[in-house]
Amino acid sequence: MLDLPILSQPAVDIQTAPSNGLRVHVESYGCQMNTNDSEIVMGVMHANGYASATGPDDADVILLNTCAIRDNAEKKIHERLMHLKHYKKSNRDLVVGVLGCMAERLRVKLLDTKLVDLVVGPDEYRRVPELVDSAMGGERGIAVKLSRFETYDDIVPLRTDGVSAWTSIMRGCDKFCTFCVVPFTRGRERSRPLQSIVDETKGLWDSGFKEINLLGQNVNSYRDEVSGYDFSDLLAATARALPSMRIRYSTSHPQDMSDKLIDTMAEYDNICKHVHLPVQSGSNRILELMNRTYSVEHYIGRLERIKKAMPNCATTTDIITGFCTETEDDHLQTLELIRRIRYEGAYMFTYSPRENTKAWKMGDDVPDDVKSRRLTEIIEVQSEIARQINTREEGVTHDVLIDGPSKRDATHWKGRTDTNKIVVFTPLDATPCAVGDTVRVKIERTNKATLVGHMLAH
Ligand code: SAH
Ligand code: SF4
Ligand code: F3S
Repeated sequence: MLDLPILSQPAVDIQTAPSNGLRVHVESYGCQMNTNDSEIVMGVMHANGYASATGPDDADVILLNTCAIRDNAEKKIHERLMHLKHYKKSNRDLVVGVLGCMAERLRVKLLDTKLVDLVVGPDEYRRVPELVDSAMGGERGIAVKLSRFETYDDIVPLRTDGVSAWTSIMRGCDKFCTFCVVPFTRGRERSRPLQSIVDETKGLWDSGFKEINLLGQNVNSYRDEVSGYDFSDLLAATARALPSMRIRYSTSHPQDMSDKLIDTMAEYDNICKHVHLPVQSGSNRILELMNRTYSVEHYIGRLERIKKAMPNCATTTDIITGFCTETEDDHLQTLELIRRIRYEGAYMFTYSPRENTKAWKMGDDVPDDVKSRRLTEIIEVQSEIARQINTREEGVTHDVLIDGPSKRDATHWKGRTDTNKIVVFTPLDATPCAVGDTVRVKIERTNKATLVGHMLAH
């Protein structure tokens, strides 16, 4: 369902849109790209006269920006929709919209319940104001066409967090891993122009952001079609343009993790030393069935190259347990890989079959209790490794970018190292610090998730 090169009109200029007195509340589920998409949707809504609600209670429009990656992600949305029934009862004019990957996957089925007034896929966000208007007039609507060209490059996302910004540098995915819905929910891969991303980053710095996260399902297959620049060029251009801005990116694919990209990361101090490189499985047979297009040996080679160029670079991964036909031996190979690599962290999931993917037809033959047991085993091994790695941080000094007060104790601050570890620390009485500052912190103690320390004088 891909469209032709018809570019929709940009949204109305934010300066000229008169307020329509209506308020929108948007909730984001799923990955960071959805977080940024919600900001794009709010940018479009503001440009069309809508204001932000303080929450669902004072909203005229509630939008759920959804995820379809696993069955439980969709279950969560169905539950939230059931809950929104109460809001509809107390406000009969309330408009409820489902956006994002689940909207793209389930389409008109979502209109089966009277609860949903509009269904909008990831490439049709320019049409949200028009569909909300129609819904207010009693006409429910759907817009789920995927585009080969839409990147929302001209839309100014409405951001609220003032330290770390998300920006999608590309959309879609062409990898077609056999288990994954993303190529179906987000369509073909397309990138924004390099200069526009660098300009956006400059604008973010000027408005006080200290960190940018460059997002894409496979950022390392980024390509500026006009200039031919690749992702390493983009990283270098951004790092040079804003030498004090912290630059992060996610997610990279092992097949496209080039030497050039690794060397670019190593070259610039402000490119954070953290690579999220999802491996999915430690068995070559399973990787082949998943269509991941790399072998365990290639993967290990990439990580060795990363560590050679950046010995202190943190590495994290994603793992799926219980993929079709996974045997105990395949599972043991995954455990072996985790022990060999020693990741700082991992997102670990049981396999969830998704309709229309290639793996859907392969069946789902690993029983749920086996999937869960294997998941527990990899979580246990990975947690112990993370704990051991963090123990080695005791006595080490880090630059910490402060993102807020500690949740547990407001006299402490919280922030992140450039390796993306959470640090809670005691400030210095003599040197006041604030959100957005970068301070030196000496680590005193650790657990598997957090480093705890005290601030040092500059
Ligand atoms: N583009 C990224 C991953 C995006 S989805 C990459 O290729 O690495 C995030 C993670 O969700 C994946 O890495 C995978 O581990 C997990 N995932 C995706 N589809 C899944 C499924 N059907 N069942 C379980 N986990 C899944
Ligand atoms: Fe999904 Fe694979 Fe694309 Fe990642 S690379 S989004 S797992 S199809
Ligand atoms: Fe989910 Fe879509 Fe992101 S399926 S993980 S919200 S790309």
